[in-house]
Amino acid sequence: MAGEGLERTSTVLALGGGVVGDVAGFAASTYMRGIHLVQVPTTLLAQVDSAIGGKTGIDLPSSKNMVGTFYQPRLVISDITALERLDRFRAREVRNGFAEVIKYGVIQDPVLFRMLEEKEDRVSSAQFLETIVWRAARVKAAIVEEDERETRGKRVILNYGHTFAHAFEAASNYRLPHGEAVALGMVCAARLAARRGIFPRGEEARQRRLIQRAGLPVRLGRFRLSTGRILRHMAQDKKVREGRPRFVLPLRVGRVRVFEDVSISEIKRVLSEIGGR
Ligand SMILES: NC(=O)c1ccc[n+]([C@@H]2O[C@H](COP(=O)([O-])OP(=O)(O)OC[C@H]3O[C@@H](n4cnc5c(N)ncnc54)[C@H](O)[C@@H]3O)[C@@H](O)[C@H]2O)c1
Ligand SMILES: [Zn+2]
Repeated sequence: MAGEGLERTSTVLALGGGVVGDVAGFAASTYMRGIHLVQVPTTLLAQVDSAIGGKTGIDLPSSKNMVGTFYQPRLVISDITALERLDRFRAREVRNGFAEVIKYGVIQDPVLFRMLEEKEDRVSSAQFLETIVWRAARVKAAIVEEDERETRGKRVILNYGHTFAHAFEAASNYRLPHGEAVALGMVCAARLAARRGIFPRGEEARQRRLIQRAGLPVRLGRFRLSTGRILRHMAQDKKVREGRPRFVLPLRVGRVRVFEDVSISEIKRVLSEIGGR
């Protein structure tokens, strides 16, 4: 950037997926203590998640996302025609982004959830996809506006399914794609909540059906992740935060709550029920 002669008034345009958005956003936020940033996300995940909310991050060899900033872009431009260029990646990339879209439905937007249930098979329709992207981005933006720097607690609900998902990803040595891990994590969270009697079984079945119809996994079996490894990764997570791991559990579609009292035996039982070994 210095080589190109960028100045205080210059703008960085992050054109690409979440990786480009995170790196370009980090660079923009630190170069000359911050120059303008515009996000132009070109994957579904970036359009509904990483480009919204102002988190930037890069990995260190020791761990993921260790260095980063909170830095809001001036503008986010999501053009769904960019997704058409994903070509052969399309199926997989779009499916992975879809896990986050389903998440927004469960945590905050029952109308979005219902739209997906009714029209998920028409995902190839551009108009439908545009509506979904817009609604999902709006849910994330609204949550971030309430808790920009993750200090008031509201932003935690974006982690629905993610406490499990991060452990699944780590236990698979990051071979399991994030979206698939989140899908499985949401299945676990819903199972756990249903077992506690705080989430109706009918709602659990709705979520499971939608995840399945999106081509995302609902059972652990074929991933051959050991329950021991999963639990070890969760325990490590817990050490980092010096507290009990926080679980976002659904109360109904469109409403979740954060719990810190989830026991190991509950987790084990849920893992075995969805085919863990
Ligand atoms: N900052 C945040 O709040 C936040 C939130 C979630 C995820 N992330 C980060 O986002 C990253 C994942 O983002 P992603 O899923 O977009 O992955 P990605 O950026 O790796 O993009 C996926 C693949 O699609 C390709 N691609 C992107 N746009 C394309 C297009 N229009 N046509 C053809 N190919 C295209 C990329 O080159 C890449 O191979 C992770 O690094 C994750 O840590 C950040
Ligand atoms: Zn995620």
